[in-house]
Amino acid sequence: MDTHKHDKVFYITFSVVLGFLLAFTGSIMLIANTLDANEGVDAAARKRIDDRTAPVATVVTDAAALVKVAAPAAARAPMSGADVAAKVCAACHGSGALGAPKEKADWAKRKAAAGGVDGLAKSAIAGKNAMPPRGGDASLSDAEVKSAVEALLKQAGA
Ligand code: HEC
Repeated sequence: MDTHKHDKVFYITFSVVLGFLLAFTGSIMLIANTLDANEGVDAAARKRIDDRTAPVATVVTDAAALVKVAAPAAARAPMSGADVAAKVCAACHGSGALGAPKEKADWAKRKAAAGGVDGLAKSAIAGKNAMPPRGGDASLSDAEVKSAVEALLKQAGA
């Protein structure tokens, strides 16, 4: 037997073995696909298994999500002075309830007494007599309270 013939026999044998292995792999994949892993397991049992094998904790790697977890109510878009005045301050200043200044003359007098808008804003931030600090909404920033004062003055024409 010359070496040439020897090689040919080897290649044929090798190809046959390779083909057989490929066919064997393919048939196993086909069989596995036709088997339903959940067959015969009722839904309640399935759920028990899922519950028992569920991870006990999750790892948060997203920094933005972590910030959200730590400070859920932190982010709120700043409100305009007119918005704050309508949503928070109007409860009293719209009607003059509890003696809250409403009319132009009343506002003008207080503005002069407080030394301008900044003084009024300071007073509104701190609260005064029947008026709670920041009109009762602690989430308002100093800037929001000040622009609300400006909006109230503008609405009264003072
Ligand atoms: C619960 C009712 C109430 C709410 C809500 C309220 N106020 Fe007042 N406010 C008053 C009363 C009452 C006064 C008068 C206090 C006094 O002089 O005895 C007053 C007075 C003021 C004054 C004049 C302070 C001064 O030094 O004379 C400003 C400015 C003011 N409020 C701004 C605001 C702003 C801005 C808001 C909304 C963020 C607001 N208020 C919400 C009741 C309220």
